[in-house]
Amino acid sequence: MTLSQKIRAAVFPVAGRGTRFLPATKASPKEMLPIVDKPLIQYAVEEAIDAGATKLVFVTGSSKRAIEDHFDSDPELESALLEAGKHDLLQTIKGIVPDGVACIYIRQGVPLGLGHAVLCARPAVGDEPFFVHLADDLIAGDVPCLTQMAKEHDRHGGGVIAVEPVPTEETSSYGIVAVDEADKDRIVRIVEKPAPEDAPSNLAVVGRYLLPGAIFDKLETTGRGAGGEIQLTDAIADLLDETPIYAYAFNGERFDCGSKLGYLKATVAHGLEHADTGEAFRKYLSEVIAD
Ligand code: UTP
Repeated sequence: MTLSQKIRAAVFPVAGRGTRFLPATKASPKEMLPIVDKPLIQYAVEEAIDAGATKLVFVTGSSKRAIEDHFDSDPELESALLEAGKHDLLQTIKGIVPDGVACIYIRQGVPLGLGHAVLCARPAVGDEPFFVHLADDLIAGDVPCLTQMAKEHDRHGGGVIAVEPVPTEETSSYGIVAVDEADKDRIVRIVEKPAPEDAPSNLAVVGRYLLPGAIFDKLETTGRGAGGEIQLTDAIADLLDETPIYAYAFNGERFDCGSKLGYLKATVAHGLEHADTGEAFRKYLSEVIAD
């Protein structure tokens, strides 16, 4: 994959257990948690569509039916909104998945890790390059992150992985990369959740990847790694000598919505920007802080 190719498929691994959000995630998916009025997974889908994806592959698990329902049409709700004259809402509901975009659902069965979840998507993706989007990493910015990454891919081909610097003491929560700055930030090493003293840098992988189809062959033979899970990071490490993969420092602000604090920050940031709530919410927050 040295030449650039249009990316058509986006994989959304949504089969994790979301234990950090229990009990909220006992019967409903973490990816359906709303930020103001849209679930995380809808932000994810909008980002992938903006970047040109037309095939959305959801790797799901138990208690994830709500995601399928969200992206399916709902004739009863649509006629109720029509009868009530709520045309704007009707358009909003009908536009969730635009024409020409297909949703495919694949069950992971047992959540053996992110690498295993991505491998489950192979029959739907084929050998093409594809996006992987982790919906709990919400990234706000003028140009959506996957669109920035697709442009980067257009420039030099190869794989692209979004990274950002993290405090050294947090390296053990992320995949960490070492790059060759003289070669367009080509990744020369990637390690999953290293202790700070073993980390090759403080550049952390965040939840956006543009990967070549060749990753699937690597995943087929990737054993259990950090945390006893089949790690995407380990398969990427295996690929580095064969295919160039570049680290990309995206423009935008990332919210780790898999953690309670990150989720609250995202809610505040988006609540302040939202047309319906922005002004009143800003006033409310300034009153709360003044107390
Ligand atoms: P996380 O590490 O955030 O795990 O997974 P989690 O299970 O979702 O949440 P916690 O840590 O228990 O709170 C990163 C991404 O990989 C997906 C998750 O759905 C999430 O988007 N994933 C993880 C899978 O799809 N399958 C897996 O086996 C593991």
